[in-house]
Amino acid sequence: MNTIRGLAVRTHGNPKHQPLVFLHGFPLSSIMWNKQIPAFEQDYYCVTPDFRGLGESVPSTGLHTMEGFADDILFLIEALDLKKPVLCGLSMGGYAALRIAEKAPEVFSGLILCDTKTTSDPDEVKLKRAAAIKRVQEEGAEGYVREFVKGIFYQSFIEKHITEFEKYIFLWTKNPPEGVIGALLAMMGRTDTTDAIRKFPFPVLCICGAYDAMTPPAQMKDMARSAVQGEYFEVPEAGHMSPLENPDAVNNKIKEFMKRISN
Ligand code: MLT
Repeated sequence: MNTIRGLAVRTHGNPKHQPLVFLHGFPLSSIMWNKQIPAFEQDYYCVTPDFRGLGESVPSTGLHTMEGFADDILFLIEALDLKKPVLCGLSMGGYAALRIAEKAPEVFSGLILCDTKTTSDPDEVKLKRAAAIKRVQEEGAEGYVREFVKGIFYQSFIEKHITEFEKYIFLWTKNPPEGVIGALLAMMGRTDTTDAIRKFPFPVLCICGAYDAMTPPAQMKDMARSAVQGEYFEVPEAGHMSPLENPDAVNNKIKEFMKRISN
């Protein structure tokens, strides 16, 4: 593992290959991509950072913005000398990916958006985030993270893979309160990227779990339609955590997309 500007970054595969950067969701860490790495590291240079304050990245002040997350990733891309990477983000990672691509579209050759959206938080969601911040300040992150993570997984995945699910809960409830609060603040203050996606000059693959209640298929279909080179893929037997809940379907689709980009 490397640390670049305080971010924990793992790299996998040959640095000469097409780079593929994976950005994790909230309040998780880069281990959520563990089912993608073995499928892609042979042919692509896979880079999996932990956002500032989460996973193994440095303890944070808790004062984070989506803009800061975006700048961190752009810094990392330059520091690792990644040429024309494809950026793949899930949910919060997707919010960051959209903003990063809006800031520096010339840097990328494609975007993969999993279970995410371009809209910013409406007032009722801002209020929920504020209540979550208060709760984490008062009682720490563990109880909140446990409840939140339970809510984002597809119920039948939890039932069928309880040991695996408990392993994730164990890891992610270790995320420090400051980091969880920082990510909540970043999401709460993020900008709307609905206009930006219409202008991206590269292919955009939108992947959505068929049972994703947080960023539902209809919303992601519209998102894909709004991109000039947009494509939509619905993942059977998956909810909001589609790359982890149905990795074979997601990996096959991403492979097809990456082949098109590389040709
Ligand atoms: C995520 O999965 O990253 C979060 O659900 C995003 C959010 O809370 O908006």
